[in-house]
Amino acid sequence: MCGIIAYTGANQAVAHLLDGLQALEYRGYDSAGVAVLSDSGNIHVVKCKGRVATLRERCQAANLVGTCGIGHTRWATHGAPSDRNSHPHTDCSGRIAIVHNGIIENFEELRQTLRLSGHEFRSDTDSEVIAHLFEEAWRGPAHGSLVDALRNTAARLEGSWSIAVECADAPGQVVVTRHGSPLVVASTAEGAFAASDVMPLAAVTSHVTQLDDGDVALLSRDGSVEVFDAAGEPVRQPKTLDVDWDASAATLGGYSDFMSKEIAEQPEAIERLLKGRLGEHGIEMDELDMTDEDLARIDRIYIVACGTSYHVGLIAKTMIEHWAKVFVSVEYASEFNYSDVLVTDHTLCVIVTQSGETADTLSAARRLKGMGCKVFAITNVLGSSAARESDGTLYIQAGPEVAVASTKAYTAQMVAGALLALRLALACGQMTRAEVEKVFRELEKVPDAIREVFRRSWQDKQAVPLFRDAQSALYLGRGTSSTTAYEGALKMKEIAYVHAEAYPAGEMKHGPIALIQPGFPVLAVVPADHVHDKTVSNIMESKARGARIVAVATDGDEQVANLADHVLWVPQMDEYVVPIVAVVHLQMLARYVALAKGLDVDKPRNLAKSVTVE
Ligand code: F6R
Repeated sequence: MCGIIAYTGANQAVAHLLDGLQALEYRGYDSAGVAVLSDSGNIHVVKCKGRVATLRERCQAANLVGTCGIGHTRWATHGAPSDRNSHPHTDCSGRIAIVHNGIIENFEELRQTLRLSGHEFRSDTDSEVIAHLFEEAWRGPAHGSLVDALRNTAARLEGSWSIAVECADAPGQVVVTRHGSPLVVASTAEGAFAASDVMPLAAVTSHVTQLDDGDVALLSRDGSVEVFDAAGEPVRQPKTLDVDWDASAATLGGYSDFMSKEIAEQPEAIERLLKGRLGEHGIEMDELDMTDEDLARIDRIYIVACGTSYHVGLIAKTMIEHWAKVFVSVEYASEFNYSDVLVTDHTLCVIVTQSGETADTLSAARRLKGMGCKVFAITNVLGSSAARESDGTLYIQAGPEVAVASTKAYTAQMVAGALLALRLALACGQMTRAEVEKVFRELEKVPDAIREVFRRSWQDKQAVPLFRDAQSALYLGRGTSSTTAYEGALKMKEIAYVHAEAYPAGEMKHGPIALIQPGFPVLAVVPADHVHDKTVSNIMESKARGARIVAVATDGDEQVANLADHVLWVPQMDEYVVPIVAVVHLQMLARYVALAKGLDVDKPRNLAKSVTVE
C-alpha cells in the first residue's frame, strides 16, 4: 500500500526522502509527495499525481532546502489519484504536515466534528483528518509535546495507520506512530529515519527498531530516536532487527526491470532455502517450534493467504495431503475472515505472505490464534507483522521482491510448502526418512530445471503473438497444474491486461467452453502426470472448436506436440515438483506479452505490492 518515509538530521532532507520514496514506490504509485521544514521555520509541500520521478523533477524546480522532512507514495483508497489528494496533508495553518498509510474508518464522523469547530478540508482523503486532529491536540492540552499530541490524535482514530508528522513549531523533530500498519525507525550516522519497511534504510543502516502498535517514536535532528508506549512511558528496550538485505539487492543491477531480475533469481533463492534442510531426521525445520509428537497430533490445517500466495497454499495442500495425509483447507483470507471456521484442539494455521503485511491474512491469523490455533508463517520479509505475530516463521530468503507481480516469492514459497509437507509426513509416520530424502533430491533438481527453462525463453517469446492482441484467454490444467494455470492467468491479467480465465480443465465443458471460437487462445498446462491423458482430451475439445493451443508439456511428449500450435517445454520432473518449474514459463510469457504491449511490467495499473488495507 502506501509508503512512508521521514528524515531529520544534518543533511538536506529532500535527497533522503526522494531516495526513500523511490525504494518504497512498489508499495503504491498513484501519487507522491514530500514536506520539508525549512531553516526559516516554514513547511514546504511538493506533491503530485504520478510517479516519484515526476516528484523528483518538481522538487528540483522547487529547490527545497531543509534538514527535516516527511514523504509519501500513495496507493489511493479514499479519493481519486490527484495532486490534491496526494500526501503530505497539512492543517489549516500549514504549520503541521502529516503522511499516513492505512485507512481511517471513522473519518466521516471526525470530519464533521472538525468542520463544526472551523476546520476546512482540501482533499477527499480519509487521511487529512489526522492533520486537523493533530492541530487540535497541539494547540490544546498536549501543546509542547509532539509525542502527546500524536498519542491524543491516535486515540481518536479507528482503523489502521502508520503516521509521520512534522510541525513548524518543533524544528528538527518528526514524530511517528503505528497501529496495524508497518513502520520501522532507525538512528543512523546520517540522522534519524522512519519508514514503512527496511528497504529504504538498507543503504544507511543494518539495524532498525520495530514499533509495536500504539508506540510513538520521536526522531530528533541529532539522529536519536526515542520510543514511547501507548501510555507515553519510555520503552526501555525497543525491539531491534538486523537488516541483512544488501541495499543493492533492491536495485536493478543491470536488468531492464525488477520482474526480469526476480525471475532470474529464482534458482539461487530455492538453493538458499534448501541448503542444510535435509538432516538425520528428515527435514530440519526448527522454525516450526513443534515436536514430532505435536506435529503427529495435527488433524487439520488451515492455509490462509491472498493472491499468488493463495496459489502457493493450493499447491501446499496437495503436497501435505499426498505426503502427510493431513486434511488441509485453503482459504482466501478476505473470505475466511467473515465465514464460519471449524477448528479442533489440534488445528494448525499456516499463513503464506510474501510481504508479511497483508491485512486480510494477518486478520485471519489473529482470528485463528484467538481460537487457540498455533500459527506458522511462511514469509519473505524479515521482522514483518506476520513473522512477529506467529508462533513460528519460515523465511523463504528470496531477497527483496520489488516488482509488484510476485515471481521468486511464489516459487520459493512453494518449496517452503513442500518442506513443511515432508516434515509433517515423517512426523506423522506417513513417509520414511528414505522416502523424504527421495523427494528432497527431486526438489534439489528444481534450480537447474528452472535454469533450463530460462534457456528456452525463446519459446515464450514465440507465443507472444497469440496473446498480444487477445481480449481474453483460457488457462487450463488439472490437479496441481490447475494451480499453475491460475497463477499463470493471474500474471497475464495483472501485468499484460489480458483477461485470462483459469479453470480446472475438466470443468471447462460445464460453461467456459462457450467462450471458445476460432482463434481463441487456450493455454493448457499438461505435464507428464497422472491426469495427463484427461487434460489431453480437454485440449482436443478446445481444438475441435477452433482454439489456438499453447501447451506447457514435458520434454518428449509427442502427443501434445502434435495437438498444440505451440509448446513451452519443461524437463522431466516429479509430478508434485513440476509446478515449481512449469510456472516459470508462464511468468516469462506474461512479461513478454506485457513488454510487447509497451506496458510497465514492474508497476501494473491499480496495484500495489503490499496490501495493508482490508
Ligand atoms: C500477484 C501478487 C499478489 C500477492 C498478494 C498477497 O502477483 O503478488 O497477488 O500475492 O497481494 O501478498 P502477500 O504474499 O504479500 O501476502
